[in-house]
Amino acid sequence: MSTQKQMRFGLFLQGAGHHVAGWRHPEAESGGENLQLIQRVAATAEAGKFDLVFLADGLTTGADAHPSTVARIEPLILLSMLSVTTKNIGLAATASTTYGEPFSTARAFASLDHVSGGRAAWNAVTTSYSRSAANFSRGEHPAHDERYAIAEEFLQVVRGLWDSFDDGAIIKDKASGHFVKPGAIHTLDHKGKYFSVKGPLNVSRSPQGHPVVIQAGSSAPGQRLAARTADMVFTAQQTLEEGQAFTQGLKRQVREFGRNPDHLLVLPGVCPVIGGTEAEARALYAELQGGIDPAAATRLLSDRLGHDISGFDLDGPLPELPASNELQSRAKLLTDLARTQNLTLRELYYLVAGARGHRIVWGTPEQIADALESWFLAGAADGFNIMPPFFPTQFDRFVDDVLPILRRRGLARSDYDGPTLRENLGLPRPENAFTRQAEAAE
Ligand SMILES: Cc1cc2nc3c(=O)[nH]c(=O)nc-3n(C[C@H](O)[C@H](O)[C@H](O)COP(=O)(O)O)c2cc1C
Repeated sequence: MSTQKQMRFGLFLQGAGHHVAGWRHPEAESGGENLQLIQRVAATAEAGKFDLVFLADGLTTGADAHPSTVARIEPLILLSMLSVTTKNIGLAATASTTYGEPFSTARAFASLDHVSGGRAAWNAVTTSYSRSAANFSRGEHPAHDERYAIAEEFLQVVRGLWDSFDDGAIIKDKASGHFVKPGAIHTLDHKGKYFSVKGPLNVSRSPQGHPVVIQAGSSAPGQRLAARTADMVFTAQQTLEEGQAFTQGLKRQVREFGRNPDHLLVLPGVCPVIGGTEAEARALYAELQGGIDPAAATRLLSDRLGHDISGFDLDGPLPELPASNELQSRAKLLTDLARTQNLTLRELYYLVAGARGHRIVWGTPEQIADALESWFLAGAADGFNIMPPFFPTQFDRFVDDVLPILRRRGLARSDYDGPTLRENLGLPRPENAFTRQAEAAE
């Protein structure tokens, strides 16, 4: 195992790429349901020794949605397929705490952890968009902070259920007739404000003990939830100073909860636009920006601000908008950016069309490597969630041309450390809370 601290890498896999017009590029292959492409890209990520493949998810769609999200396979189903076609890479799926049930979620992720040999991760999201409520027989989308209160309890229940079985509970002892070790399965008996779950879970403790838990909301309650319970955070910052402030602030909160700050990994999203020369990269970025459909970009920006901006003058400044019930941190990030850089709405939507508010870096492989290294060494990130503008060639270039530079600098791994995602991320395997309580009582 390497002793030098190295960057962690996630591949944020979206079938039609991250740039809203990426799918139109002549080299692009696309589709959220293009299984052959998805398998090929996951294999490339594994060849590059990425820590994980990450699948986002939403619960609504429409013809004007981002091309990567118009139609997509349910992430856990897709990752079950990838668990067979890959061997070492972590498999992260998004699932909602607002529109899910803790029992089903705990069961699904423990199952993925079993079938993948300990490579599962859950991106626990609170679901921003209020239009989701209409698909789940709900009259109303819960308010922002209440969604986080629900998420806190949801996660507590899921982690409790993942401890239902002691490790090694199924002994299949033919001599004694005990299939299960006596006393090794526990009932949770959770009765809280939002959930009432008896347990036990009907899946045994999985290889990682608990699948890796990811959190992706950066508002104050989002950060609190992450600091208390998550193993990894996905985030979006534009400048080195913002990255440092966010990462170090979050790690301080982790310490306040009595946890080791190294056990919460912060991975900002980065969209690398790679060219053989700086001029080539610049031209590629300009080509992508030139393909933007104004309606799609307006919809994307409206979603990220949590307000419909289609009625405003695109060549005027960003209007004053009240705080959104949908999402807070991304809306704040974009508002701050528009104000500090004096951007018009049109300029802001051009920026969002690239990577939905995530940082875009363009240049040669060397320049991309430098841009990642500077953040990593300055404590602004533990690694990066890579968001290629389109697949597969831009991602191939990252793996073939950027990673070898980082490897030569000792900043990227050349092989996996172990069979499980936790081992590769340097995260401990959680103790079983029931076992710990029983040992403490003895
Ligand atoms: C990299 C990244 C990926 C995300 N993926 C999803 C997703 O797949 N589905 C979803 O509903 N929300 C997703 N989110 C949104 C957050 O989970 C959260 O709901 C949103 O940012 C609002 O929370 P906030 O106000 O705390 O920022 C993602 C956020 C980030 C930074």
